[in-house]
Amino acid sequence: VEAIEAMARDEGALGLPHPAIPLPVDLYGAARRNSTGLDLANEAQLRELAHELAEAAQRPPLQPRQRVPDASATEIAAALQRAADHASAWAAVPASERAQRLEATADRLQRDMPALMALLIHEAGKTAANAVGEVREAVDFLRYYAAQVREQFHNATHRPLGPVVCISPWNFPLAIFMGQVAAALAAGNVVLAKPAEQTPLVAQAAVQALWDAGVPREAMQLLPGDGATVGAPLVADPRVMGVLFTGSTEVARLLQRALVGRVDALGRPVPLIAETGGQNAMIVDASALAEQVVADAIASAFDSAGQRCSALRVLCVQDDVADRVTGMLLGAMAELRVGDPARLATDLGPVIDAEAHAGIQRHIDAMRARGHRVHQAWHGAGEALPPGHFVPPTLIEIAHLGELGREVFGPVLHLLRYRRDELDALLAQINATGYGLTLGLHTRIDETVARVLAAARVGNVYVNRNMVGAVVGVQPFGGEGLSGTGPKAGGPLYLYRLLSQRPADGAQ
Ligand code: SER
Repeated sequence: VEAIEAMARDEGALGLPHPAIPLPVDLYGAARRNSTGLDLANEAQLRELAHELAEAAQRPPLQPRQRVPDASATEIAAALQRAADHASAWAAVPASERAQRLEATADRLQRDMPALMALLIHEAGKTAANAVGEVREAVDFLRYYAAQVREQFHNATHRPLGPVVCISPWNFPLAIFMGQVAAALAAGNVVLAKPAEQTPLVAQAAVQALWDAGVPREAMQLLPGDGATVGAPLVADPRVMGVLFTGSTEVARLLQRALVGRVDALGRPVPLIAETGGQNAMIVDASALAEQVVADAIASAFDSAGQRCSALRVLCVQDDVADRVTGMLLGAMAELRVGDPARLATDLGPVIDAEAHAGIQRHIDAMRARGHRVHQAWHGAGEALPPGHFVPPTLIEIAHLGELGREVFGPVLHLLRYRRDELDALLAQINATGYGLTLGLHTRIDETVARVLAAARVGNVYVNRNMVGAVVGVQPFGGEGLSGTGPKAGGPLYLYRLLSQRPADGAQ
C-alpha cells in the first residue's frame, strides 16, 4: 500500500518532469467533453476521482521504479514450495466459492476505480480513457471466468493442473495480468505471477484486491522482477504444471523450449498458453467509406500510443483512393493531442520507457534513411513535444510488407498502396509475415469480405470497424502462427487448457 501511495507522487520512468497526476481543475467539464467512459451522471464518482488525483498531485516526487526489488532466489524457491504445498487446498475449495471470490475482487476493482486509474496513468502512462477501459476489462475477465467456472465446472469432475506461472506484459498491466490469474485461479490452480518489470505496482494492487476478496496468499503469489532472474527459474521448476504468457514471440519461444519434455503426473505435456506479437494490417478497398476508414485507422494505430498487440501497423489502401484517404488521415493525425496522460484532453501519452522510445525512434530514422516518406502530424506540431518519452503519430510509406521489419510497438503506422488486381497477392504477403493476430477490412463488397475471411490466417478479423479493444466474452482474443498458441483469452475454451477432466477419485 505504501508503495502504491508512493507511486502516486513519483515522477515515474515515463520521463515526465512532474508527477504524472494532474490538477484536475476542470475535471468534471473536461470529462463531459472527452469520452472517458466514466459514468458522467455519477457526479460522486467524478468528485472522488478529482479528489484522488488532486491529492496525489500535491505529494513530492520520488525516484522512479526502484522501490520494488526483484524477488530473490530464496524467495522464489520458498514461493514454489508454498504453491506446491497449497495446491490441493485451493483445488478443494468448491468451484462456486472460487467464483464468488473472483466476483468479490471485481466488485472491489469497480469501487477502487479512481485509485486504480491514477496508478495506471502514473505507472503505465495510460490516458484516462484507456485507464477506465483497462479497469473495466479486468472486471470483465474476473466476472467472465467466474461465471464459466460456476456454470460448467465441478470439483467432482474436473481437476486443476497445480501451480501455474503467469507472466504478463506492461501494456495491459491490470487487464491482462488479471485475465491470466483469474482464469488460473478460477480453474483451481495456484498462481505464481511475474508481472512486467515496468509495472509491478499495478500488479500489486491487483493481487491485494484478490487477497482481500478471500483468495489465500499461498494460492496467489506475486514475484516481481525480470524474465531472466524471476521468470526463467519459475518456469524451469518441475512442480510448475502450466505457463500463461503474454509478450514477445522471442520470449514465448524460450518458454516453449524450457517446457519441452516436461509432463504432469499423468504424463501429459505441461501446457503453455502464449499470446504474442503481430504485424497487423487493415485492408481498405475503393468501395470503403473513407471517413470511417480514417476514424478506425486512427483508433487502431494510435490508441494507447500504439502499444497494443492488436494495434494496426500497416494500412493497405487500394491505390484509386489512397491519396484521398492519406490526406484525410494526415488531417486527422494533426488533431491528435500528444502529452501528459493525466490530462483528459490527451489522445497519446508517452511510450512506456526510454528504451522503448529509443527503439521506436531508431525504426523511424532507419526508414527515413532508406528513403521512405515519413509523415508526422499532431496537434501543435511545430512546437516542441513536452518533456517525456513521447513519439508523435507517425505514418511511413512502404511498397512491400517485407519492408516492415520487426514489430514496432508504438504510434507508428505504415502505409501500403495496392492495385485492385493485387488483393490476393496482398493477402499472401500478410500471411507470409508469419504473424496472425488481428486484421481489419474496410469494404462494402460482400464478396471481398468472404474472400478475405477465407484467406486470412489471423485470430481476429474486424470488418468495417476499428481493430482494437476486443471485449471479453464477446470477441475472444488471440492469434495464430507467430502470434500465439490459443486458446483465445476471454473465450469459452480458455479454462479447458487449465484443468483436466479427471474425476476427483482419480479414476479415468
Ligand atoms: N485485447 C487487447 C485488444 O484487443 C490486446 O491488445 O486490443
